[in-house]
Amino acid sequence: MDRRLFIRLLGGGVVTAATAGTLSGCSSDLPAAALAAWSGPGQPPAPGTDPRHWLLAHAILAPHSHNLQSWLVDLREPDRITLYCDRSRLLPETDPFSRQMMMSQGTFLELLDLAARQLGLRADMQLFPQGEFGPAHIDQRPTALIKLSPDASIRPDPLFQQVFKRRTNREAYEAREPAAAALAAITASAAAPNMVTGFVGSAQAALRDQHRQIAMDAWRIELETPRTVLESFHYLRIGPSEIAEHRDGISLNKPFVRAVTALGLFDRTQAPGPGDSNIAAQIKDFNTKLATTPAFFWLTTQGNSRSAQVLSGRAYARAQLAATAHGLSMHPLQQALQEYPEQAQPYAAIHQLLDAPVATHTVQMWARLGYAPPVGPAPRRGVEAHLVKG
Ligand SMILES: Cc1cc2nc3c(=O)[nH]c(=O)nc-3n(C[C@H](O)[C@H](O)[C@H](O)COP(=O)(O)O)c2cc1C
Repeated sequence: MDRRLFIRLLGGGVVTAATAGTLSGCSSDLPAAALAAWSGPGQPPAPGTDPRHWLLAHAILAPHSHNLQSWLVDLREPDRITLYCDRSRLLPETDPFSRQMMMSQGTFLELLDLAARQLGLRADMQLFPQGEFGPAHIDQRPTALIKLSPDASIRPDPLFQQVFKRRTNREAYEAREPAAAALAAITASAAAPNMVTGFVGSAQAALRDQHRQIAMDAWRIELETPRTVLESFHYLRIGPSEIAEHRDGISLNKPFVRAVTALGLFDRTQAPGPGDSNIAAQIKDFNTKLATTPAFFWLTTQGNSRSAQVLSGRAYARAQLAATAHGLSMHPLQQALQEYPEQAQPYAAIHQLLDAPVATHTVQMWARLGYAPPVGPAPRRGVEAHLVKG
């Protein structure tokens, strides 16, 4: 799509003719139906009644790569929740080994646990109760079996208060450095065995520049690789009706994108050609954001077992909730951590920079960190959409 062409079209009044109705009362706000889950499940369930829907209503607010919400839950056995990864919701191009999917199972488990603690319930979580998936593929076996039981020793966790406030924030961040107390709280919240978290900020400006450069390179590669950009296009939801219908993926609701799409000028089935002006504009915009990002957060594990991936997701959810409690935003940058061949150079570079030798360690999460203007919540499909039927 040629931006200049679009501007010419605007000048000619074609937009008005073609999109009247589609854009009437045009607002960038997401449709209420897509955000209903953020109103929460209401009062906690009365003691003695089934708490599982209430717990799930919190768990589905977890962050998930590309907002795919690939959580399938089986409630057919009382007092238990069996969690599966919905294999119709994977990202084979950008997440070929489903590492991010496993992390996204972990974020769900963490929020579920926080909600259980709120009710004085112990949530015993057995990961991979029928055995761990191998490194290449995931299969139909469950990722976790959760047994719930009342336990007077279980205390609420203050991070629960942040569940409804947490957002992935992709905006430009302010230049000011995250407060030291906030960094300490994030570190403490995410502490787990065989895992290291860290930050880089203005105290290590040269190192931070290297972080920025790797993120820029990796983002450009993702946008210029036809099959990976097409995978993202597939999960773009543009305009209120697509957003309300799917309630997943990445929502775009700004009038400009809606107008371009309504005019048929944004073909999501075709990868943009070399030098495409829209892709160039996106790269420029993201480079500006990266160049002013004050700090980066990272999380590495020893090894890369499926359990390590799930536990990394749990730790990331805690880190992001702790950041939220301190008024800080996070924005994951997974591009350089992705295992498809075109990313080999940024992948090696970020592992080297973080002192995580590829043979023995894995960078599981890397994120922008800083203060930013608030953003709204992302769509959720609602608890019913996640239940195994039958
Ligand atoms: C494992 C994982 C990887 C993610 N990678 C990215 C990423 O590379 N870029 C990005 O913008 N967001 C990324 N996200 C954030 C999701 O896109 C976000 O959680 C989802 O869109 C829902 O929005 P929310 O977090 O505001 O609820 C990632 C989240 C997780 C859990």
